[in-house]
Amino acid sequence: MTGNEIRKAYLQFFKSKEHLILHSFPLIPENDPSLLLIGAGMAPLKPYFTGKLVPPSYRVTTSQKCIRTDDIDNVGRTARHHTFFEMLGNFSFGNYFKKEAISWAWEFLTKVLELDTDKLYVTIYPDDKEAYDYWHNMIGLADERIFKFDDNFWEIGEGPCGPDSEIFYDLGPERGCGKPTCTVGCDCDRYLEIWNLVFTQYNRTKDGKYEPLAKKNIDTGCGLERLASVIQQKESNFETDLIFPIIEKVIAISGGDYNDPRQKMAMKVIADHIRAITFMISDGILPSNEGRGYVLRRILRRAVRFGRLLGIKDLFLAGLVDTVLDILGDEYPETREHEALIKQIINTEEKQFSATLAQGMELLNDMMAHVGDDKVLTGAEVFKLYDTYGFPMELTEEIAGEQGFKVDKDGFQEAMKEQQERARAAHTKVSAKVATPDTTKLDQSKLVNDETAVKATIAMLGKEGVEISEARDGQEVTIILDDNPFHAEGGGQLSDTGVLCAAEGKAQVTDAQALPNGLVYLIAEITEGVLRTGDAVDIAVDKQRHMNLARNHTATHLLQAALRKVLGNHVNQAGSLVTPDHLRFDFTHFSPVTQDELDKIEALVNEEILKAVPVTIEEMALDTAKEKGAMALFGEKYGDIVRVVSVDDFSCELCGGSHVANTSVIGT
Ligand code: SER
Repeated sequence: MTGNEIRKAYLQFFKSKEHLILHSFPLIPENDPSLLLIGAGMAPLKPYFTGKLVPPSYRVTTSQKCIRTDDIDNVGRTARHHTFFEMLGNFSFGNYFKKEAISWAWEFLTKVLELDTDKLYVTIYPDDKEAYDYWHNMIGLADERIFKFDDNFWEIGEGPCGPDSEIFYDLGPERGCGKPTCTVGCDCDRYLEIWNLVFTQYNRTKDGKYEPLAKKNIDTGCGLERLASVIQQKESNFETDLIFPIIEKVIAISGGDYNDPRQKMAMKVIADHIRAITFMISDGILPSNEGRGYVLRRILRRAVRFGRLLGIKDLFLAGLVDTVLDILGDEYPETREHEALIKQIINTEEKQFSATLAQGMELLNDMMAHVGDDKVLTGAEVFKLYDTYGFPMELTEEIAGEQGFKVDKDGFQEAMKEQQERARAAHTKVSAKVATPDTTKLDQSKLVNDETAVKATIAMLGKEGVEISEARDGQEVTIILDDNPFHAEGGGQLSDTGVLCAAEGKAQVTDAQALPNGLVYLIAEITEGVLRTGDAVDIAVDKQRHMNLARNHTATHLLQAALRKVLGNHVNQAGSLVTPDHLRFDFTHFSPVTQDELDKIEALVNEEILKAVPVTIEEMALDTAKEKGAMALFGEKYGDIVRVVSVDDFSCELCGGSHVANTSVIGT
């Protein structure tokens, strides 16, 4: 059977057991901050297990796209490790339990796939008498073929979990380590785990508690590539028809020799990684320096390096995508749909990294030649390779490791942090002169932000970070009002400005800044007379400026929404500036925007303005906002209650800025 036939047979078998076949969920988890990427068939189904959502059927079967990176260094070195793989699974949401899961798994393996029962073994959780009875009495498996292991318990982040039972296939002594202790559970390649049946009966909470679930569930996971290697009697997953054609292509491009162990490893790495890269990009992930984007970048750059080790000089990765699509494109049409995008992004990233790879390697070799007796590369060295030559830390670690060197990972993180702090300090230096004095002794409950305030009392005056009781003509000071109408600078939007008039003096407010707790302080120049702490002031916010800021800010939201509609949902905000007379929006995209695309974006934004759509601002729980699909900045920490700005169903963003009440106010 081909890999595609095995997948089909699996899904059809469970369909015949009244399971609904669902298409694979995307690799990006939805509403699950505990996971970076989907790494198991059950991961996207968590809300059905916990009862939070009603499933479309109480029996479901899928072939789920998965990415796992915890073992990435093993990929290429073993027969069975992957970053990307397909996990076949059958799931019961409070419907059937151990008896059916065990008997159907056995039936599929022995009747449909006709695996030799003498080669099958199982493991169970030591306390799980029920599972033992089903295996022993119902299936008739001899006691010595049932192993009990404490680690037969399955969980992934928060959510449903429970004891499990794994099925192993004996590939024969010639595949084993030969040690007398070698048996099921040995790390070597002889006993291959092909299926994991999880008896999901607990819910793991955020604080690590295991709560019994009201309904007991089944979650099973069967690695398609492993199963194919058994059925097709191949030495490893890489020789199955799901992957080998990619290796053949690499051989053709490189002229390499698959029988040379070093080259073989490089080819396996590339074949594995190009599958992951293709699927990640087709699900909307772009290379970047954080989160999922970093995982992609790491995988892609690792593949490029192994290509160079094979002697491939030109860009080659995008050329492998066709082969991936030939094998998997029918089952996962979303990959074909994004073919052009996938190739373009790969080419851009490969080109970029290729430009610095050789120089970085030279530097790394030099570093290794001069390393101290401990054979550890310092954090600063590893950081230089990362920062200047684009070497992901893990790549440096791997290359150094190949030659017996280690890297100082903590030192690297330290260097990374220092750089971020330097950047932050450079950014805040300008305003150090006008920092507000210590506000901790102010009674914060008496200080409010209120856009409509026209009168207030001065709660605190400061000069160069020191509290003062009065400020005179010509001085630049900080002012905290008990009732503040000025919108502080934030999220790229400049602050409001205006004038304060007290009985004996006046001040021109040139800036407003917010402290992390939301307290706003003004930066002002005294233009006449004197202002004292406790003075009552009349306030005039520059309304024209405020409205222009609001116009440009709402327009920024329209622009972001239009960019995503025209260029794709991969477009993410990477910076933004909202001033009274213009806006600037930085975003991630893999190529220049064409004139035609620009025209479309412009037309879309103008259309929303002409439609005179009301803009709504609501406060709500973060979870609710996410369910609503509100866009948030990646990596930004939000409080539990957030402010959501929506323009009909065209745009919905978390935002603390100033906005117009109706898009028509933006004007042309
Ligand atoms: N969740 C289990 C696993 O991933 C079974 O699906 O192994």
